[in-house]
Amino acid sequence: MFESLPESKPDAILQLMETFRADTRTNKIDLGVGVYKDANGQTPVLTSVKKAEKILLDTQDTKAYVGPVGSRPFCAAMITQVFGAQAQTDRIRCAQSNGGTGALRILADLIKASKPNSAIWVSDPTWPNHIPVFKAAGIEMKTYPYYDADNCSVDFDAMMSTLKQANDGDVVLLHGCCHNPTGADLSIEQWGDVADMCAKKSLFPFFDLAYQGFGDGLEQDAASVRLFASKLPELVVAASCSKNLGLYRERTGAAMILAENNTNADKALGQLSVVIRSNYSMPPDHGANTTNLVLTDDALNKEWRDELEEMRLRMLRLRTAFAEGMRQRTNSDKFDYIAGQKGMFSRLPLNTQQIATLRDDNGIYLVGDGRINVAGLPEEGMDALVEAIASVL
Ligand code: LMR
Repeated sequence: MFESLPESKPDAILQLMETFRADTRTNKIDLGVGVYKDANGQTPVLTSVKKAEKILLDTQDTKAYVGPVGSRPFCAAMITQVFGAQAQTDRIRCAQSNGGTGALRILADLIKASKPNSAIWVSDPTWPNHIPVFKAAGIEMKTYPYYDADNCSVDFDAMMSTLKQANDGDVVLLHGCCHNPTGADLSIEQWGDVADMCAKKSLFPFFDLAYQGFGDGLEQDAASVRLFASKLPELVVAASCSKNLGLYRERTGAAMILAENNTNADKALGQLSVVIRSNYSMPPDHGANTTNLVLTDDALNKEWRDELEEMRLRMLRLRTAFAEGMRQRTNSDKFDYIAGQKGMFSRLPLNTQQIATLRDDNGIYLVGDGRINVAGLPEEGMDALVEAIASVL
């Protein structure tokens, strides 16, 4: 039965994670997969999360089914986190999802059911897994230019002039903050321009919000979504709790819908429930219940916000230290942009050969497009890392 299958190509980021694990060198450095690391190179369970898990363990009195859209309290808390405490929520609906990727996929299925002939426009570059997710949903994909690699910044003019050619009703995938893989984000003025264009051309905004709290702060990172929500009748958001709550393997996320009116919002959530039921029936419970406790218990929430801020500030410090090290070592400002970018990722201007040399000779792992996970930069070994990178330039 399976002999006719073509050889499958593994996901580049996940394969890199495996190769890194198999490397027995003790001085290896993982700048690959997007998981946060502390100063000891560990990805710990947050203290606030541990406490919430303990409460859950002690108090949960049933494992009975919840339903396709998952926990309502979790959904309400996620709506507040993304749309803000003041948001009018009557047109917003939410379904708990299997991580941010699960939200992307069920929302993609919802879009295919609602607008079967619309294309989705994704940034070039984008998170590599966006492409198979939308392909699997049967949505035609197009790309808009996003990153000016020479200047290491957003090529906003190119982005806008390409999106102006989109057909009315097409969908535009936007990274709400902390663009993956470039770390180059739009300014709030630019977000306003994109929102106005979406309104004018009836483009449908689809936000991927996987790194809320890792850029400028928890509230600030939702500014793009909130601005669009104030200007446009409809949009969707795929939000993730993997990074900001460190819940990676618990697969916790939320698929959110802002509809034109209450009736359409209910219709959309109904269709989303059908999509979920026919895929995996219901989402897993543990991560969402833990998240709900962390977001709604005052003491836990304060503790989590402090932990999140600590992660964010650590990544900023690492950005500055790396940029400064590269400035001194190369005697140029070519890497200064790293200090000004946002979130977990930036791209180094390295070719395939240079990336392979870093891996083979130095045990330094980065994604094939030059993307580095900033949180993986070693505080102690920064000089050695800078030296290795400079030596392949
Ligand atoms: C990443 O971009 O490295 C993360 O989002 C992890 C993943 O699933 O690819």
